Amino acid sequence: MSITGNAKIAGVIGWPVGHSLSPRLHGYWLDHYGIDGSYIPLAVEPENLADALSALSKLGIVGVNLTVPHKEAAIGLVDKVDDAAARIGAVNTVVVLKDGSLEGRNTDGYGFIASLSSSAALQSVKEKPVVVLGAGGAARSIIVALQDYGVGSIRLTNRTRERADQMREEIGGDIDVVSWDQRAAVLEDAMLLVNTTTLGMGGQPALELDLDSLPTEAIVNDIVYSPLKTDLLAKAAERGNPTVDGVGMLLHQARPGFAAWFGREPEVTDALQAHVLNRSGF
Ligand code: ATR
Repeated sequence: MSITGNAKIAGVIGWPVGHSLSPRLHGYWLDHYGIDGSYIPLAVEPENLADALSALSKLGIVGVNLTVPHKEAAIGLVDKVDDAAARIGAVNTVVVLKDGSLEGRNTDGYGFIASLSSSAALQSVKEKPVVVLGAGGAARSIIVALQDYGVGSIRLTNRTRERADQMREEIGGDIDVVSWDQRAAVLEDAMLLVNTTTLGMGGQPALELDLDSLPTEAIVNDIVYSPLKTDLLAKAAERGNPTVDGVGMLLHQARPGFAAWFGREPEVTDALQAHVLNRSGF
């Protein structure tokens, strides 16, 4: 769609940024809703992040998403952060406020819960344990979101145990850290299993996990979305577990930013998902 001189401009800052699906995602919504706006990729090296962020209001840009490797560094570079960003320790969405100051938000946890609840019955996860595989940045936003949602207890397991122990200490709440070699055993009575590791992603090693002790009612969610149907999800579906793939989190996390920048609450639809995935080689 062509834009006018009044167009609102937002974008995504990353280094590199070429892999980001956000321009396709926001571009679809801009077209779909006929909004006079544009969402552009901004390749910014880490040492230039501070300059790039401070230039946003000067350029009249309404806001940006942040992707690898900028999310953590941005915490110290914005004027204020919302509660989720402060607890997660990372910013994925920056809104330029009317006075030109920058508000850093984190919508990854929102995206995670919105994706899960739109495709599975989530109520039971408040009563039974949740198992989280992995202790990277994605795990952190998911654990904070699960706690805010009101889950009872979380069993956290990671190849490098110290990372899981550190995360438990920093986040607090009811988190049990379990050794990576015990990951199959802790599936007993869990109502939700989330893979936040890169295992099972194209080009990465497979996730080896015996699902035998997982109740068949438990929801299985893989945040990997390339491939969309990972071996974990295929194995879970075969034994009758409800499954949720990883693309929903990506699509839903984008909604609050789009609404703040362009003034319209966007919808996640099958057509959006097809647009974002199909022409991106998935
Ligand atoms: P992100 O911030 O996107 O979550 P990350 O910080 O690189 O990414 O975390 C990747 C996760 O996948 C980590 O939990 C990592 O485990 P380690 O903390 O031990 O590195 C996990 N992971 C990656 N490769 C793995 C492998 N071969 N076996 C087990 N876990 C792996």
